[in-house]
Amino acid sequence: MRSVQARHDNARHLSLSEPIIKLDNVHLSLTSRAGSVHILRGVSLAIPRGQSAAIVGPSGSGKTSLLMTMAGLERATSGEIIVSGRNIGPLSEDELAILRGAEMGIVFQSFHLVPTMTAIENVALPMELAGDSKAFDTARGLLAEVGLSARVDHFPAELSGGEQQRVAIARALSRSPEIIFADEPTGNLDGRTGRQIIDLLFGLRERRKATLVIVTHDNKLAAMADRVIRMADGSVVSDESTNTAMHAVSS
Ligand SMILES: Nc1ncnc2c1ncn2[C@@H]1O[C@H](COP(=O)(O)OP(=O)(O)OP(=O)(O)O)[C@@H](O)[C@H]1O
Ligand SMILES: [Mg+2]
Repeated sequence: MRSVQARHDNARHLSLSEPIIKLDNVHLSLTSRAGSVHILRGVSLAIPRGQSAAIVGPSGSGKTSLLMTMAGLERATSGEIIVSGRNIGPLSEDELAILRGAEMGIVFQSFHLVPTMTAIENVALPMELAGDSKAFDTARGLLAEVGLSARVDHFPAELSGGEQQRVAIARALSRSPEIIFADEPTGNLDGRTGRQIIDLLFGLRERRKATLVIVTHDNKLAAMADRVIRMADGSVVSDESTNTAMHAVSS
């Protein structure tokens, strides 16, 4: 596991005002059997360290693609993406995986837990892969932090949707990421459970001083973020801090 000292050393190299994520004219085209699809069409934005940003927009507008591109899970066709001071374009798949492991936690709509592993095994997995001998102790602490101390030995199928998402969040936090990406983390949950997950995510982000980038269809949820980035047809069509964004949402 990366030490706090290493993080401080890393942070010292970066100017405080330097954004943790910066995209410059990013395009993404993917080829399917139906032909090439131009998905992201020149996205430029900068997310300051510690900010919470919501990405909203209609289905198919490119929200997930934007998140995946920022996380290096999709490779931009052109343009530049800087994450934590590194241009991710030239990085190999292995280098990207290392960067993701060290800097990013990713939460998906459909949880993506390993069904044959218990809650604690799921949370410990990324730390074990990183050779952390305290993986299980840390995993236990993380499950307590998300309110699941009583469920550590349950398999995903023995957990409710909200509980599974908490396990996924604990796993995403396991290596103390600087950036938390969440793609519709409440999309498979009922309203009340979804609200609890959101409160949990925003609370964790506040306590850990992490940067949170969250894709959502929910305008109320989006308004909890510092900033709302609205996508349409692969482009950013508005990008506003929340006071103004709330106004835009309600008008
Ligand atoms: N692998 C792929 N190959 C070709 N086209 C794709 C691929 N993945 C996504 N697309 C297309 O890219 C566009 C953007 O998809 P994306 O999943 O980013 O949208 P989204 O805004 O997240 O939508 P939703 O709200 O429904 O999740 C869509 O038109 C989709 O059909
Ligand atoms: Mg999506």
